[in-house]
Amino acid sequence: MNDWTEWHGAYDDPESPLSQRLLAVQQQIRLALDRTAPGQVRLLSLCAGQGRDVLPVLASHPRGADVTGRLVELDPDLCAAARSAAPASVDVVEGDAGTTAACGGAVPADVLLLCGIFGNIPDEDIARTIAAVPALLVAGGTVVWTRSTRVPDVTPRLRSWFSDAGVAETAFVAAPRPGWAVGAGVLRARSIPLDRDRRLFSFVEA
Ligand SMILES: C[S@@+](CC[C@H](N)C(=O)[O-])C[C@H]1O[C@@H](n2cnc3c(N)ncnc32)[C@H](O)[C@@H]1O
Repeated sequence: MNDWTEWHGAYDDPESPLSQRLLAVQQQIRLALDRTAPGQVRLLSLCAGQGRDVLPVLASHPRGADVTGRLVELDPDLCAAARSAAPASVDVVEGDAGTTAACGGAVPADVLLLCGIFGNIPDEDIARTIAAVPALLVAGGTVVWTRSTRVPDVTPRLRSWFSDAGVAETAFVAAPRPGWAVGAGVLRARSIPLDRDRRLFSFVEA
């Protein structure tokens, strides 16, 4: 079984591949916030962990104070860590992020984070989740996602699924050697209503 608390420990080593990935994710979150219109910015992060990617960005970005939203995470200890760093405008919800029920009231979001998910779920769940992005994002909103490029590298397929969903890629940043990759894109299609209680993905425990 995965120990996700231990997994987060790699963030404490600035040389670790996970820390390198973190910098790329945070850069894409900053760019997403730069693109938002004045006023409230809605954020949704699924399987948010400790929120190590987005919470420091909110604390430093000029639009950070405009952000409201939700981090959904299953593990109570990781939720507690995220809560201790989250501003009051961001709820940390302990629960299963794999169903659309976890998203109700928090979508359509301006910024959607799907980080640390796609390497842990079957390909058909990835496809289903990406196909649901138009129900999770407002038109013009940004999705930031991650997936390893290790063999067999499925990122080309993921990128084409995002394109099929109406998401225009704004960035794809990969480690120099097969390892982490971070993608980002903007929903160019219309946002569609969310099915209220549909399973998008389930983690496959290692
Ligand atoms: C690889 S970590 C990614 C954490 C964070 N998104 C990041 O990139 O730093 C995966 C996280 O998903 C959480 N998780 C696993 N299954 C989940 C589910 N069904 N609903 C919500 N969170 C889940 C784990 O507890 C873990 O914190």
